[in-house]
Amino acid sequence: MLKQLLVTSLKEVLGKEFSQETLNRLIEIPKHETLGDLAFPCFELAKHYRKAPHVIAQEIACKLDHSKYERVEAVGGYVNVFLKKKTIAWETIKKVLLEKEAYGSKVHTEKKTMTIDLSSPNIAKPFSMGHLRSTVIGNSIALIAEKQGYDVVRINHLGDWGTQFGKLIVAYKKWGKKENVIKNPIKELFNLYVKFHMEAEEDASLNDHGREAFKQLESGNEDALFLWKWFRDESLKEFMKIYNQLGIRFDSYHGEAFYNDKMDAVVTMLEERGLLVESDGAQVVELENLPPCLITKRDGTTLYATRDLAAAIYRQQTYQFNKSVYVVGNEQSLHFKQLFAVLEKMGFEWRKGMAHVPFGMILKDGKKMSTRKGKVVLLEDVIKEAIQLALKNIEAKNPTLIDKEETAKQVGIGAIIFHDLKNYRLNDIEFSLADMLRFEGETGPYVQYTHARTSTLLKKGKFQIRDNQQLSFLDKEAWPIIKLLQNFPQVINQAMEEYDPSKIAKYLLDVSKAFNHYYATVKILNEEEGNRLAIVYSVKVVLKEGLRLLGIASPEEM
Ligand code: ARG
Repeated sequence: MLKQLLVTSLKEVLGKEFSQETLNRLIEIPKHETLGDLAFPCFELAKHYRKAPHVIAQEIACKLDHSKYERVEAVGGYVNVFLKKKTIAWETIKKVLLEKEAYGSKVHTEKKTMTIDLSSPNIAKPFSMGHLRSTVIGNSIALIAEKQGYDVVRINHLGDWGTQFGKLIVAYKKWGKKENVIKNPIKELFNLYVKFHMEAEEDASLNDHGREAFKQLESGNEDALFLWKWFRDESLKEFMKIYNQLGIRFDSYHGEAFYNDKMDAVVTMLEERGLLVESDGAQVVELENLPPCLITKRDGTTLYATRDLAAAIYRQQTYQFNKSVYVVGNEQSLHFKQLFAVLEKMGFEWRKGMAHVPFGMILKDGKKMSTRKGKVVLLEDVIKEAIQLALKNIEAKNPTLIDKEETAKQVGIGAIIFHDLKNYRLNDIEFSLADMLRFEGETGPYVQYTHARTSTLLKKGKFQIRDNQQLSFLDKEAWPIIKLLQNFPQVINQAMEEYDPSKIAKYLLDVSKAFNHYYATVKILNEEEGNRLAIVYSVKVVLKEGLRLLGIASPEEM
């Protein structure tokens, strides 16, 4: 952002000859502050103009709009620029004081809608660490998009249909107990699922029964439907507990099953466009440079991809989205490539607004965690442990805190969410409970703690925003904070463009570090005019808003 100031000035001097991008690329940040805050090397221009670099530097330094800078100097082949730090600081602070939590927001004149497919766990199975990733990454992207002026529709595309439900119905009828399902639905249904797979290894006919049961389900058999609905309701109740704890809500729980009565229309559309080809009794769409996309199986039952086609069309019709994103693990990249390619072949222009936002796996000892074998870490237990640990910390550090339980919840959950979001989403993460529950170093609680510190300072200093507020001086140590504060809108833009919440997480760590350094070197409360508290206030606003964009609460005290 500060670079942009110099780019604009240089453009005034150089005219059309050099693009903004080129100038932006050339500008350097000098190693030593005696050489200015920004430096513009003139060697590339020298070649272009066939002049000596130091001559060009002189000329530019002369012509640059000096009123915008503290000082401009030509040194060798460089133009060194010293910024008006106090002015920039005041401009920045003034903006934050005025806009408060709206700082960094964008408003669009026309309505823009984004649908986001996130979380989407599978019914009757434990909520996996992978689904946790989709949930927290997706929720943050949704919040960032709202900040950028989008109407966001959060869709939980539940995995509530497919052959596995046939298997589950068979398993329940053979070995299941109603009381157990009611008492502990996910655990019991998952046990049945695991047992089915074990038994099927001995007795392959079970698989046929499973397929048969699913066919009955697809053709609307009441008995099968009743069981299915019951499994779905019980599972969803369990998932809701997790969502409530994480503070996440959805606008739609239309899962795969919702599209059952919308599949024929899709098949017809594909037929009409002459895209369906028979292959081994199945119907497929052939694609360039990709394996064909399977639409119906030999026995006529439909597939995951078909349901996603129906869902995409339904979402466009229902919400008229400008953007439609899918936050799903990168092991499904091929599926989404195929999905988008089929929509492309169908001639849907709106397909251009769709994107798969993939993320890496959670590994255990370098290997993918598998739910199949029944050896899973339950998210519920992780959350419980995080909250308990947070409570223990609070008891030790701040035993008189009023809202201990609630704060512990915010801190424990903050730790879990931040632990995920601080990593670039495509990186695999090695699962470590100890790491997730760490409260020191580059963690969510560290940022929350810094925020709480700003609150305390503002209270102690009885800070109030005044109309006649001015910045009468600027501590040298405050400059790194100012630079970060004025960059907040830019960071949000980048996070949106790249669907990358880690940009914000890393930024919050930088702000926290810069602020804590300031706090350690400057006596903040020892000053009359409230200059320093205005900076503290701005830091508080940005930390709180940044944490909110990650889906994390900011307690006032902890
Ligand atoms: N239920 C799927 C799974 O757990 C994820 C669904 C993602 N969304 C979608 N529209 N395909 O693997």
